[in-house]
Amino acid sequence: MAGEKVAEYERIKASYNAKPNGADYLFLCRSCYAGVVRFRQADGYMSTPCGPHTPIPPASFAARVDEWHRRTKGAEFARLDYRDAISRAKPGDLVYCDPPYTHSQAILYGAQTFRLADLLGVIAECKRRGVYVALSIDGTKRSGDKVCDLPIPNGLFEREVLVNCGRSMLRRLQMSGQTLEGEGVADRLLLTY
Ligand SMILES: C[S@@+](CC[C@H](N)C(=O)[O-])C[C@H]1O[C@@H](n2cnc3c(N)ncnc32)[C@H](O)[C@@H]1O
Repeated sequence: MAGEKVAEYERIKASYNAKPNGADYLFLCRSCYAGVVRFRQADGYMSTPCGPHTPIPPASFAARVDEWHRRTKGAEFARLDYRDAISRAKPGDLVYCDPPYTHSQAILYGAQTFRLADLLGVIAECKRRGVYVALSIDGTKRSGDKVCDLPIPNGLFEREVLVNCGRSMLRRLQMSGQTLEGEGVADRLLLTY
């Protein structure tokens, strides 16, 4: 069975890479390793291997799609660089940033050129012109024995809350068979207001 799953995954990945399309992409997102969609920088080839988990059943996935269809009604989606997106915000608007996490995602999401320091500069500019910003970023890992050290300027953020994200998906897969105790993950939510 496991062999069939991998073969089918590779077939759909090859189909996507030959001709990128939404249906294949959706399947790959739900079934690839740790849900981490990784593209080669050189040619954009989707290279993530098949995940060891059993993908979400089609009926459960369909229910989620219906729910998100309801929640996102009226929303406008745009694919553009964060600098362009943020420049559209007006005083009093709220910008939420969920950038690639600096300690674990440098090679993911085509984020090789992303620099957190640049984003922090843009956020400082937002604060100056009255645009509110919420930023989620690496928090504690491994039950809090390491708090990720980030180059955040003093005074940029007024508040910080830790958001419990449950178990780390990557660690869960890496530790298969071992206990999960002590592998909780928290993200930091930093607010300029
Ligand atoms: C942590 S993920 C965001 C996940 C998303 N909030 C979600 O829940 O699915 C970081 C995202 O930043 C995007 N990204 C990287 N560089 C960017 C840039 N310069 N401008 C806009 N987005 C960028 C990546 O493609 C990736 O989708």
